This record gives sequence, C-alpha cells and structure tokens, in this order.
Amino acid sequence: MITFNTTTKTFHLSNKQISYIMQLDENKHLVHLYFAKKIHITDDDNNQLLFGHLDYQYFKGDRLVNSYKAKEYGSYGTGDFREPAFVIRQENGSKISDFSYVSHEVYQGKKSIEPLPALYVEEEQEAETLAITLHDSLTDTDLILYYTIYRDYPVIARRVEFIHQGKEPIHIERVMSMQLDLADSDYEFIHFSGAWGREKQIVSSKLRWGNQSIASTKGVSSAEHNPSFILKRPDTTEDAGEAYGFAFVYSGNFLCEADVSTFNQCRVNVGIHPVNFSWKLCAGEQFVSPEAIVMYSDTGLTPMSHNFHRLFTHRLCRSQYRNTDRPILLNNWEATEMTFDEEKIMSIAQKAKEAGAELFVLDDGWFGTRNDETQGLGDWFANTTKLPSGISGLSEKVAELGIGFGLWFEPEMVNKNSQLYKSHPDYLLQTENRHGHSFRYQYVLDFSRDDVVNYIYQQMKAIISTAKINYIKWDMNRYLTEVYNVTLPPDEQGKVFHKYMLGVYSLYQRLTQEFPDILFESCSSGGARFDAGLLYYAPQTWASDNTDANDRVAIQYANSFFYPICSHGAHVSAVPNQQTTRTTDIQTRANIAYFGAFGYELDLNELSKEEFEVVQQQIAFYKENRTVFQYGTYYRLVSPFENNVGSFMTVAPDGSKAFAVYYQRLYKPNTEFINLKLKGLEAETKYQVSLLGVDKTYYGDYLMNAGISFNSSHIARNGGDFTALLVEVTRIEL
Ligand code: DGJ
Repeated sequence: MITFNTTTKTFHLSNKQISYIMQLDENKHLVHLYFAKKIHITDDDNNQLLFGHLDYQYFKGDRLVNSYKAKEYGSYGTGDFREPAFVIRQENGSKISDFSYVSHEVYQGKKSIEPLPALYVEEEQEAETLAITLHDSLTDTDLILYYTIYRDYPVIARRVEFIHQGKEPIHIERVMSMQLDLADSDYEFIHFSGAWGREKQIVSSKLRWGNQSIASTKGVSSAEHNPSFILKRPDTTEDAGEAYGFAFVYSGNFLCEADVSTFNQCRVNVGIHPVNFSWKLCAGEQFVSPEAIVMYSDTGLTPMSHNFHRLFTHRLCRSQYRNTDRPILLNNWEATEMTFDEEKIMSIAQKAKEAGAELFVLDDGWFGTRNDETQGLGDWFANTTKLPSGISGLSEKVAELGIGFGLWFEPEMVNKNSQLYKSHPDYLLQTENRHGHSFRYQYVLDFSRDDVVNYIYQQMKAIISTAKINYIKWDMNRYLTEVYNVTLPPDEQGKVFHKYMLGVYSLYQRLTQEFPDILFESCSSGGARFDAGLLYYAPQTWASDNTDANDRVAIQYANSFFYPICSHGAHVSAVPNQQTTRTTDIQTRANIAYFGAFGYELDLNELSKEEFEVVQQQIAFYKENRTVFQYGTYYRLVSPFENNVGSFMTVAPDGSKAFAVYYQRLYKPNTEFINLKLKGLEAETKYQVSLLGVDKTYYGDYLMNAGISFNSSHIARNGGDFTALLVEVTRIEL
C-alpha cells in the first residue's frame, strides 16, 4: 500500500479507494501533492503536479518559493505565511526551524500510543504505516511524521513525534497532528456546534479567503464545538460527490481550521489548541501528538458516515462491548436526582426489572455527604445514611432481581465540602494567590499529576472490586479554569492541559484493563466530551441532558455523521420534559430513542398502568430488534435542521429488516405530501411495510424511488405536534 519512488522521491500511499501522494523537493522538504480518489502516477505526472500546479507562481530562483507550496507539515517564519503546523521556540527566543528529510520506514500494522487513544489493527496486514524522519540540525531535533493507510477504508491516520537530542531545551509551542494542503477551496465547511442541552447543531458555510476554525480551550472537547468536521463540495449530497471528513482522536483542547489563501488554496490543520500549550523538551525527551483522521469520499456523505461508523466501531473502540448488544438500562437521575434512599432505589430498580430492562444505573448522589451539589464530590465511598447496605449490598440486591447494576462517578472533580479536599487541598488545579473559580460548586482535580490520578484510581477500585458492577457512567461537569500544576516548574506549566488529558486516559486505561467486563459510558454534562478520543475507552456516550424527543431528533441526526449509532446514549424520560417542559407521547419518545443505546430515565412506578404496559412492549420490541438499531446501516433521510420533518432509518446487517422514523415537529392542517424515500434496501426484493397498523407490500426499488407518502393527516390522527412514527420494513422471504 505504500511505495517510495527513488527517482522522483515520491511517496504514494494507496488502496482501492484513495491515493495520498507527497514528494521530497530539491531541499528535501516534504511537499504535498494529492489526497483524493485513487490515481496512478508516472514519473512525469509527479513533476506535473509539483511544478505545474501547486507551486504555480514562483518555483525557481530565490523568489518566495516557499509561500504557496503545498506542505506536508509547514513551519513558521521562512516565507510560508499561512497557519503553520508547528512552532518551536529555542532558548534564545528564535522560533525559526528547518526540518528536512533524513530517512523513512514502512511497516505493517500500526503501533499503539496508549494511553493516548488511536485507531488500531487486529491483523498486521490490515494497514501499513509510513514513518518519515525529518531533522533540524541547529536544534538537533527529529520530527517523525506518521501516516497509516488501511486496506479497507478510504482513510489516513496521522500523528507526529518530536525527539530532541540537542543540549539546549526546546519548547514546542504549537503542534498539529495533521496538516493537509488542498489544492483549491471550493468547499463547504460543516461542523457540529452548540451548547449544553443543544449539542451538535449542524453549521454549514462556504469557505472564503481567510481563516475559518472551530476550537476548544475549555480542557474538554466541549458542547460548543465537536472536534470533527467535513469539507464537502457545494454540490455534494448524501449520495454523491466529494467530501473529506476530519476527526481528532482527542478529548481536550483542540483547533480545527481551514486557512484559505487568496490563491484559493486551502490549508487544513487539526491538533491541540496552541493557547496555553508549550511543551519543553530536554535532550533525550520526546513528545507524541494525538492522532487525527481524514476520510475521503467521492460518493457523498452517507458512505463517509458508514465508513466512520465501521471504523470507529471495529478499529477505535477497544471494549469487548464494541459490537455486542448494549443493555437496555434505566437510570434514576431524572427520577430522583440526589434525593433517594435504598428503598426508593430498589423500588425503581424492581419496576425496571418488571418492565424488562436489563441494567439499573444509580446516578449522582450515592457517595460521601452528597445530598446536593455543594458537597461530596471526591469521596468515593457509599453514603450509608441513604444506602445502609452500601454499594456492595445494594448491587447484590439489584443482582438478585436478575438485572445488572451500574454506578455513576465523576472522577475528575472535588467539592471543597468533602473529605478529599480537607485532606488534600493541594490536589486542585489552582493558581497560587489567585481566586479559583468553581462551577456547580465543584473544582477540578489536577489530573496532570500521577499521584492525584492514582489516589482516585485507588478509591474507585475499592468500590468496584467489592461490588457487583456491570456498568460505569463517567461524568465530567465543568470546564477547566486556573489551569496550573503546583508541582511543576514555571516553564512546564504549558504542559498541564495535555497532561491532564493523559491523566484522564491513563485512569480509563487502568480501569478498563483491570475490569474488562464493565461497560463504560462517558458523559460530560451530556455531550460535552462526545468525541473519537473517548470512544476508544468508552463505547457509548450520553448524548445530551436534553432528553426531549423533539430536540433529540436533531442531536442524534447530527451525531450520526461521525459516531456509530450504538455509541449514542438515548433514553425515554418523563414528561413534561425536564429541560424543555415539552410533552411528547411515550411512543414518540421511544421511537427516537430506539436509534441509539436505548434506555429509560424516569421512575416507571409513576406511569399509569397503560403507559407501563406500553413500556413493557417497547422493551420487548427493542430486544427483538436491537441489532437492527445498534448495528444496522444507518441512513439520514430528511434533515430536521432544514425541515418541519426529520427522518432517518437503519437496515439490519443481514438486510432482513429496516426501521425508519418519521418525525413531524408542528402539525399544520392539510399540508402537501412528503414522499419518504427509503434507502439501503434490495431493489428487486419484496418488503412488507407496517405503518400505523396497516401492512402493505412493495418492492425495494419502489420504496427507494417512489417512497412512502405522508402528510399531516397521518400525524394528526396520531398526536399532532412533536410526533414520531415508526415504519417497520420486513423482507419477505420466499
Ligand atoms: C450531568 C449528566 O449529564 C446527567 O446525566 C447526570 O449524570 C448529572 N450530571 C448528575 O450530576
């Protein structure tokens, strides 16, 4: 898959779908030539690409050859005035560097960079990796650029390493995991932005001259911007056209930018945000960047999403749950918040069992003196006033019901009103002589310190190993402020944000290795850390604290561009909805939540007899069809961001079954018809379509090309506003 032409000095990474080509120029600098659909090149083609196209303006003599040349990893200060891939500061203050080619190595497979998350291989032949070593002689530093190409995915995974040998230290002040210089800028930039409770709203804008970016400096990837984005051609649709999808495999500060020159070239950078980042390297030390991924499609956005879903499920997620049935859970948070006792919890768990749920999750409020938000965080031992038999006793009792038991933690946090704070006030991220800001009365533990991470590990381990725990919800409910490590010298404070993330990942690594049977769900006030990085350790993520069916249609639709459906935690909650006060029908709530890792977030004792029976039916239905929802092939049909209607569907891995949801926001009388055209069916096969109690038979090509007609009157008879209908499509076996 990887070749090096010693005559033209050209690297060509290719599989059946893509080609990624770069070349050494006359100064042994690495020049980017091409990344898109698979092509063949001759020796002449290389020269054509290099001199006729990308370096079209000034290519000889002492002109500014460097300015517009497409780079693999552009440096600062030597004539390329676009956003650089990296900046290194020397002790004398100079930020100029000159890295040129020394050697390269190609190997089968892909090496782990744990605790940093990254794509992996199961068999060496699945992928090849190219490691190109560049060297800056003045500072005596190596820079290694890593490229992995997979045999079966149109994807390139990239990361870099700096290895320093020079006597004087250097300071890396900016390090992108990937730079990609595209030859033109005729793209739309699609990203997923929002806030708490309205995560992942789709934003799309045409690229223009200048810099367009999304970023986080909050210490987590954030609800405001997700570290994933798409560049697509203006005419690219779900089913046709070119697009690049970028995902940063990281959960902390990030920068994703498209820097468009006035010659219409587009430079893409993906990496750790440079604000408050500075990494000092002494002789013999090395810095390993997180990984960034770029996927190419020339067949539209849906195939790109399918590839991301497959790749993330099978080659990013490490858990044994990566492709096994996810349990139907019931979480007590919205039912009780922190006000409960063992009797109450057992009554909720008992009813969950009666409904058919498979796992009960005890959320916040079970530990220390955690009776409200002001106290207890950091004290990971049971509050025996509320729970006299402790977590081990409670977990036994839940196990006796015949269902699993899950527990909530917020490992990175502490309240000042806690035993942890009283005994270790120095464990916080805090700046000497400065006020420390709390949020929700909580402070952030300094996870950049091994001793702090180890302390929390011991506490968690003590609980986990003495109770029957099948699931852990790892929450994280605030952004980072006063980021300063009291144990590090002044010139290493720029390491703290990244070391914090390494601490989080290393705790995940230890816990998941030691307790491989536990299913982890990550959470950060809902979806503020729903990213590729955490999928490595936690196969599912709580998508949002907003469980309103109307808003979840949009959030789940947007999540589907990158993240597999089985990774979206999606629950039916009580009405009126806690966040929006909106009331939707219980079947509508389930019809949306089915498209995810399904569960409930309410006290089923409070439902009417009729509603409880509906819940029992829903759970039985989901058990029967779980594989279709969690591991089916997912299609976006109608965008809820652009319409009064939202629709998506999933087709079983064996093609025998499909479900589509048709959601209407507001009822309007006597509206026009909408033909819902299904996708992913077999054209010449007959299917039975069940909708609103009526069964009809159609060919697959009819359903995909003519579609099913809806208008408001269908919905009016079934609830009017905020109503989701489920269409069941069953292959008729001959
Ligand atoms: C925020 C989470 O998103 C909720 O689901 C819940 O776990 C609360 N935190 C508990 O404090």
